[in-house]
Amino acid sequence: MSESEQDYTRHLVDLRRHMWMAGIEVELRRLIWQIAVMGKYISAKIQESNRKLAGFKNVYGEEQLALDRIADEILKNKLQQSGFVKEYASEERESVVNVGQGKEQYIVTADPLDGSSLVDTNLAIGTIIGIHKSSVFDCGRNSMVAALYMTYGPLITMIYAAGKGAHEFVLDREGEYVLSEENIKLKDKGSIFSPGGLRKDWPDAHLQFIEKLEHDGYKLRYSGGFVPDINQVIIKRGGLFTYPALKKSPQGKLRLLFELQPMAFIMEQAGGRATDGRKDILDVKVTQVNQCSPVYIGSASEVTLAGNFLSA
Ligand code: F6P
Ligand code: MN
Repeated sequence: MSESEQDYTRHLVDLRRHMWMAGIEVELRRLIWQIAVMGKYISAKIQESNRKLAGFKNVYGEEQLALDRIADEILKNKLQQSGFVKEYASEERESVVNVGQGKEQYIVTADPLDGSSLVDTNLAIGTIIGIHKSSVFDCGRNSMVAALYMTYGPLITMIYAAGKGAHEFVLDREGEYVLSEENIKLKDKGSIFSPGGLRKDWPDAHLQFIEKLEHDGYKLRYSGGFVPDINQVIIKRGGLFTYPALKKSPQGKLRLLFELQPMAFIMEQAGGRATDGRKDILDVKVTQVNQCSPVYIGSASEVTLAGNFLSA
C-alpha cells in the first residue's frame, strides 16, 4: 500500500473501531460512543433553536436557558437507557441523580452546553463529559476513567481520552465520527494564551505571570467558551488557558467536576498539565457538586511557569 493510500485508510477509522483497536473495555467504549451520538442530537437542537431565534429576538434570553436544559435532558434520558450508568451529575442540576439500578459501572458528569451564551454569536460551543468509576466525591485521579468533549462549530468534533492517549474525531456527512488526529501530543511549550477574568481583579502573582507571557510574545486567544479555547490549545499542540483566583472569588469561576476534571484528564493524556496553580487538578478532592477552582491548563512549560510565579 502506498503512503497516501495508508493515510486515506487511517482516516477511515471510525470511533467504535478506534476504541476497539485501542483495547478499551467494552462497556466503556459503548458508553463513549453513545455519548458521542448524543452530540448529534444536541447539535440538531442548537440549529433548531437558532432558526426560532431569528423570528423571536426578544425571547432570546429564555431560549438560551432552554437550550442548556434541552441538552441536559437529552444526556440524562439517553444515559438512563444505556444500561451502563448508575448516576448522572450535571451543571444544570443541584445534586447527583440516579439514572440506573445501582449495579451499573459508571457515573457520568456533564456540562451539557458549555459557552451557551455564545450561541447568538455563532462561535463554537460544546459539551464536556467526565466518566467516573467510583464516587465523584474524591479526586479525579482516583475516580475517573475517561473524558470527552464535543465542539459544535463549523464542524462537529469529538475528542476522547480513556487512558490510551487523546484522539480527535470529526463527524462526517454520513453521520459517522471519523478519526482525524490520533494520539495528540502537545509540545512542551506553545505560543498562545487564553486568560480569563478581569486584569483589575487578578492577584499580583497572576498578573506578573501573564505579563511574562505577554513579554515573551504569546498571542491572545480568548473566545469566552471553555471548550473552543481548550480545543485551540490542544489542536495547535500547545499554549495555556487560565481562569485564575480573583481578588473577590479565590476559587475562580470554572467548575471542577463538570469542566476542569474532564479537560485535565484529556490534557494529561495529550502530554500537557492542569493545575490550580499549585496542585494538579486531578489531585484536588471534590466535596461539592458545584465546587470551583482556579485553573492553569495547557502545555507543561507554561503550567509549570505559572506555578513558579504563584509560589514565589
Ligand atoms: O462555563 C463557564 C464559561 O462560560 C466558560 O465556558 C468560559 O471559559 C468562561 O465561563 C468565560 O467566562 P468570562 O465570561 O468571565 O470570560
Ligand atoms: Mn461551562
